[in-house]
Amino acid sequence: MPNGSVPRHVAIIMDGNGRWAEKRHLPRVLGHRKGVKALERVVERADAAGVEYLSAYAFSTENWKRSSAEVAGLMTLFGRYIGKKTAALKARHGRIRFAGRRDRLPLSVLRALEAAEESTKDETGLQFILCVDYGGRQEVVDAVKKIITSGVGADAVTEELLSAHMYLPDAPDPDLIIRTSGEERLSNFWLWTGAYSELYFTDTLWPDFDEAALDAALASYAGRQRRMGGGTGA
Ligand code: FPP
Repeated sequence: MPNGSVPRHVAIIMDGNGRWAEKRHLPRVLGHRKGVKALERVVERADAAGVEYLSAYAFSTENWKRSSAEVAGLMTLFGRYIGKKTAALKARHGRIRFAGRRDRLPLSVLRALEAAEESTKDETGLQFILCVDYGGRQEVVDAVKKIITSGVGADAVTEELLSAHMYLPDAPDPDLIIRTSGEERLSNFWLWTGAYSELYFTDTLWPDFDEAALDAALASYAGRQRRMGGGTGA
């Protein structure tokens, strides 16, 4: 039976910005800038469609290996847009949250992210989760560190306890993970919480991803059967 529903949490791997720019003989960072526009379109459409949580993989724990110019370009983009886009999100009662390591980002970016979280913390609309310096393996490592520090004994370690120590324990697991640009892998995104996520891949490069593309992903999701390991169902 198709589930017929709107996913509560849609997670996006925004891939293909670099190729979009290179095809046009433009610097890669211009692809990322176009990517911000695509993200704005998708946040609005997802909100209108009834999605409650939208997470976006903006910078992974591995992305530091990119050229220093590209890393700097991305950090500048985060610093510049987070404040601006947060105001627009807040106007629609959206809340912004951040998932990732907080100890390696430029201070200006960290401050912008924390200010955005603080200024929208009481909003009750769409929750937008920006994953920056995020890695799924690192998230598990960080959870284990917190658990050990709390002094819990080995017998008390359960899946529930680990879940309670992930970056955003109150957010629902992603129902749908979308990856653009034709690549079909998770690349260390939501490894723990994405255990039963439905996956959707499209060849569209992220800067070209628009409202219709999101609608197509949501329609695909609505047609899926979700058994979560529970057998064939009736
Ligand atoms: C992947 O494309 C994209 C990224 C690593 C960056 C995504 C970031 C944004 C869209 C900016 C979000 C910013 C704010 C402020 C919300 P790629 O570079 O891996 O593309 P390629 O695979 O074609 O090289």
